[in-house]
Amino acid sequence: MVTSDTHATGHVFYRQAGHLHPAAERGEGVYLHDADGKRYLDASGGALVVNVGHGVREIADAIGRQAAQMAYAHPTMFTSRPMEAYAEALAAVTPLPDVRFFPMCSGSEAVETAIKLARQVQMERGRAGRHLIVARWQSYHGATLGALAMTGKPKMRRPFQPMLPETPHIPPPYCYRCPYGLTHPDCGMRCAEALADEIKRVGAENVAAFLAESVSGATLGAVVPPPAYWPRIREICDEYGLLLIIDEVMAGFGRTGRWFGFQHWDVEPDIVTMGKGTTGGYFPLSITALRGEWADVILNGSGNFVHGGTFSHHAVGAAAGLATLRYIQTHDLVTASAEKGELLGRKLRAGLADLACVGDVRGIGLMWGVELVAERASKATFPPKLHFGQRVADAAFERGLIVYPGSGCADGVSGDSLMLGPPLVITDEQIDEAIALLRQAVEAMLKMH
Ligand SMILES: Cc1ncc(COP(=O)(O)O)c(C=O)c1O
Repeated sequence: MVTSDTHATGHVFYRQAGHLHPAAERGEGVYLHDADGKRYLDASGGALVVNVGHGVREIADAIGRQAAQMAYAHPTMFTSRPMEAYAEALAAVTPLPDVRFFPMCSGSEAVETAIKLARQVQMERGRAGRHLIVARWQSYHGATLGALAMTGKPKMRRPFQPMLPETPHIPPPYCYRCPYGLTHPDCGMRCAEALADEIKRVGAENVAAFLAESVSGATLGAVVPPPAYWPRIREICDEYGLLLIIDEVMAGFGRTGRWFGFQHWDVEPDIVTMGKGTTGGYFPLSITALRGEWADVILNGSGNFVHGGTFSHHAVGAAAGLATLRYIQTHDLVTASAEKGELLGRKLRAGLADLACVGDVRGIGLMWGVELVAERASKATFPPKLHFGQRVADAAFERGLIVYPGSGCADGVSGDSLMLGPPLVITDEQIDEAIALLRQAVEAMLKMH
């Protein structure tokens, strides 16, 4: 039998030395159960993945049926009924004109697909010099080398720096710690203007696209940009001939109270990346969506998108994606996310406000971040070596609550945050349970420091 410490002596290579993972055995709604019988309230759906909740029979059945009927056919040779049906259903909720979808498996691959699409579209339009993608600091876009080059986390980039393609980065819209020391709304959206400055610095003729998360994910901890940010970014992209890629891997599929995070603002991207909530964790499936006119530039130009993968356009993935999408629609989980999200935000603020280390609580829909500080007035961070956020998350885990810790929000290296992003089926009582456990965990850590 697999017990919680089996892996200490086994052959699996885990990420962290000396960290024993319990074996996850069963999931139901917002709860996970481990092999030792302990129950966890999964208040972050892992890494904000499990939007539909654990243990959804319909999705598991759809996967099983498709795998039994026809698990795999090579994507250069065949399409499949579930793939076509899924694309049609997804098109109905994705607000891009004449949208087309390129499916892969992970969010990182969706980002790789997006940056290759942007590059190839620019080439096919006769702009062969455009090869750079401008991205943002304090961002996360994935672990593969292309996506890592986009990622603005110095700690993750450092070991691989010589292997990363050149990628200019600009500061994020982060009002709690404005990178320019300004205050919204008197700031003139300096952080958006930074894109124009960066394009001019490297030369517009060299830039293919701008890439950013609609709502910042784990690095900043659910930071929502000011209303004028995205419309201004779109204007700048248009002015300088850039494609706009919005990364919805974390914020998509109802997480923010809309199907996609960018729908909170008046902005239409050229390319959108999706993952995580695409199947809520039931199958590895990511999607890169692009406007039809850009797909046609490639198809009517060279005729081939120079990209692919053995497991792209996977029939079982498509069946999982379709069943997940239908489940979200049938249970109106996008509306639930908006409603429960407001409640979660209000209760988080009320329930944690008096704790000395809670610097900021921010979020939208069911995507929330709690920034932890050593001193509230000065916003001083804990020393990174203390791993304060991770230790609070560990204390919560011990108490049967899962939250997702992030580090580097202040400047890429220091700064601790915790993310909450529960399954969209969470109830009012479960929200209360999560906040009570989180409070206990924070109090326990405060006593030690
Ligand atoms: C915004 C964003 N983009 C891309 C990724 C990479 O996705 P994956 O881990 O599935 O490769 C993540 C993962 O956390 C993410 O949050």
